[in-house]
Amino acid sequence: MGYKDLREFLERVDSFGELRRVEGADWDLEIGAITEVAASSPGCPLLLFDKVRGYRPGYRIVTNLLHTERRLALALGESPDLRGVGLIKKWKEGPAKVTEGPPPVEVNHGPLRENILSGKNVNVMEFPAVKWHELDGGRYFAGPVTIARDPDEGWVNLGIFRLQVHDKSTLSLYIGPGSKHTKQILQKYWDRGESCPVAISMGHTPALFIAAALFSPWGLSEYELAGQLNGMPIKVVPGELTGLPVPASAEVVLEGEVPSLEVESHAEGPFGEATGYYVSGLSTKEPVIKVKSIMHRNNPIIQGAPPMRPLPGLWHFPVNHRCATVWSDLEKCGIPDIQGVWQEGYGLMVISLKQRYAGHAKQAGQIAAGSRGSTLVRFIVTVDQDIDPCNVTEVMWAMATRCDPERDIEIIKEVASSSIDPLLSPEQRERADIITGKVIINACTPIYRNRAFPPVVAVSAELKAEIIKKWWNVIK
Ligand SMILES: Cc1cc2nc3c(=O)[nH]c(=O)nc-3n(C[C@H](O)[C@H](O)[C@H](O)COP(=O)(O)O)c2cc1C
Repeated sequence: MGYKDLREFLERVDSFGELRRVEGADWDLEIGAITEVAASSPGCPLLLFDKVRGYRPGYRIVTNLLHTERRLALALGESPDLRGVGLIKKWKEGPAKVTEGPPPVEVNHGPLRENILSGKNVNVMEFPAVKWHELDGGRYFAGPVTIARDPDEGWVNLGIFRLQVHDKSTLSLYIGPGSKHTKQILQKYWDRGESCPVAISMGHTPALFIAAALFSPWGLSEYELAGQLNGMPIKVVPGELTGLPVPASAEVVLEGEVPSLEVESHAEGPFGEATGYYVSGLSTKEPVIKVKSIMHRNNPIIQGAPPMRPLPGLWHFPVNHRCATVWSDLEKCGIPDIQGVWQEGYGLMVISLKQRYAGHAKQAGQIAAGSRGSTLVRFIVTVDQDIDPCNVTEVMWAMATRCDPERDIEIIKEVASSSIDPLLSPEQRERADIITGKVIINACTPIYRNRAFPPVVAVSAELKAEIIKKWWNVIK
């Protein structure tokens, strides 16, 4: 099942009782703090803020949109009961595999066109931008989608980049180092001495948000990817200023251009990163978007997706993608009997498998270490199939009882890392030496001792089922 817009998805979430409405919160730290505290509470409610201090009633912000397994499954049209490894498996067969999808369909009208502003009427400050955390350098739109067209090949790219608000018509755009397509497209325009036309969508069907964040091959428009994930093509209208295709039922679309850094730039940040640290955003010279046109729905809803350190139960969908990528790579390399791949927080990945031969677990660990999906992982742990990889207590027990540190821990030096790795020193960053060490921990029972390894003290599945049936009134 797909969603025609963000509102339809919110209605669906509301039907599960996971949506909470908040009125009167302050854009200055309060909305950010409420978002984070709610994210650490059981069930992590989705929050819809209205009557934000200093902004018109009806100009709303939604946060914690996809931060539970249920909401992520709902966004992808999967069963809301999918959890843990089951969800990763679906992701492996779905989003991680998509290489094409239905192109967007151009329509003449859409709710986005309910309000069209240009010239003196352009004022991005009418839309609630938030100071999310105390150390942030200012107010941000966190999580909008930037849309740009490759000037040579004509395809349209989407990516998610934070935007800092500076004045009525100036935003700065932070694109981290690495092979981001948006950066390459900007550079193409700048090399021709031109500014790059861009459109920014700030509230849309969740499939578009997911697609824009995924790494997709050069030349594949994330609109197609989003259409595939959404189960129907994305409807677009041409932007008033740029003619770029923009979602017809988006909440707000800003249009403008990005001049080269020589023409104009702005100090940006600091702003946190997904790893839970202020790694980037101390720069004095980032590109700016000069906003010249705005389209928006009546009573628009802006999506806010601020960074947060990992919290128990908090779901970050990029983690699904990483696990699914590693799992697919293991399969492509012919590693048999992988039961599941899981990532805890940002640095620990767990692979569960049924050991078949000597060296099987280590092989899996080594291949995972070389996979693009484990770029932000420092520790890779392999466990037997009786251990639930999503259960940290079980994983730690396996590490403490089945791993002989002398034999089962291996350190791999100088593996490719990510620019948001907080361990990188300033000097490493300076010389783009983006590498880290990784640890592979084999916490599987030694295979040659499989039969002789001490049995586990636990009630068998059969006995457990019997006991639950008979003694439910005691143990419930
Ligand atoms: C909520 C969220 C915020 C993000 N913010 C940024 C950001 O500010 N800068 C950045 O370089 N990447 C950011 N990313 C990652 C990019 O969106 C991602 O790398 C994407 O694939 C880039 O698209 P592109 O290569 O098509 O330009 C963010 C991802 C998410 C999910």
